[in-house]
Amino acid sequence: MSKYADELAQTAAAMVAPGKGILAIDESAPTIKKRFDAINTESTEATRRNYRDLLITAPGSNEYISGMILFDETIRQSTTDGVTFPQALIDQGIMPGIKVDTGAKDMAGHAGEKVTEGLDGLRDRLAEYRQLGATFAKWRAVITIGDSIPSDACIEANAHALARYAALCQEAGIVPMVEPEVLMDADNSIERCYQVTEQTLQALFHELHRQGVAMQHTILKVNMIISGKQCPTQADVQEVTDQTVRCLRNTVPASIAGIVFLSGGQSAELATAHLNAMNAAYKDLPWPLSFSYGRALQEPCLKAWEGKAENVEAATQALLHREKCNSLACDGRYSAEMEATAL
Ligand code: 13P
Repeated sequence: MSKYADELAQTAAAMVAPGKGILAIDESAPTIKKRFDAINTESTEATRRNYRDLLITAPGSNEYISGMILFDETIRQSTTDGVTFPQALIDQGIMPGIKVDTGAKDMAGHAGEKVTEGLDGLRDRLAEYRQLGATFAKWRAVITIGDSIPSDACIEANAHALARYAALCQEAGIVPMVEPEVLMDADNSIERCYQVTEQTLQALFHELHRQGVAMQHTILKVNMIISGKQCPTQADVQEVTDQTVRCLRNTVPASIAGIVFLSGGQSAELATAHLNAMNAAYKDLPWPLSFSYGRALQEPCLKAWEGKAENVEAATQALLHREKCNSLACDGRYSAEMEATAL
């Protein structure tokens, strides 16, 4: 048991406190460039700072958001007023988190599959991030569905790395947010997504146990059980809700501190509707179900911003709207009509 047990328990509970979720703003340099390309904005150190400043300082976010996941560059940057970003979050009662993996790389001998890197030197990096204010850390493994993939080798290699990272986090007093993401980009059915996600979560929890990771000090970040984007038949909200909850009940220990979903390419409104339906229909789950969205929280905000200072106010409102909708979805109080009304 980590000497930080009490602190870890407190952090993990606060991350999934009622009506609160996580805003993921930890896009790596190539990913944020892709997002900025879509709004014709150059990605420079200055434009990335301006954008993250908007997200971090949006007034009132702390009603809906418990933590934000930062990228290495971002945790070292400051607000326009010169306060470091992690301190600016702490001042609002929002916990700074940090992405600590160094990316999903092609897996040798396994065409089309990825394994996430970043274990080398991780103990020292975690100590530094804790100094900088981080209280939780994310590691994302990517599992791709395709012809005869994922392989057992890919699932196991990624589960092993996730467990090693999680153990190092707990040793350092940092809550691990373990993220095995089964991608939703292919043409697979929802049944195939269920089967691959179930296998991935079984492997993950097996490794977490084997490596002594404390469940009650861990947050799971996971995909919903959903039809692949290219699949001609798209499962409806009810089916996504039921299949996702069934999969989690079959694989996730009751002692885990909380489960948060990634949005994975779902539209902003659908990601909210799915979370809401789960929390409305299932009141007796052993863990809180909340959100840790990147795109589904940021997309309307990015579009409104377009890289222009004069749009910061509109972009901030777009962000707060999505944050509030998802906060309400944490206890099944969201409805589609809320999209039409200003909050
Ligand atoms: P999306 O919600 O855009 O999938 O991103 C969440 C995330 O942090 C993925 O690692």
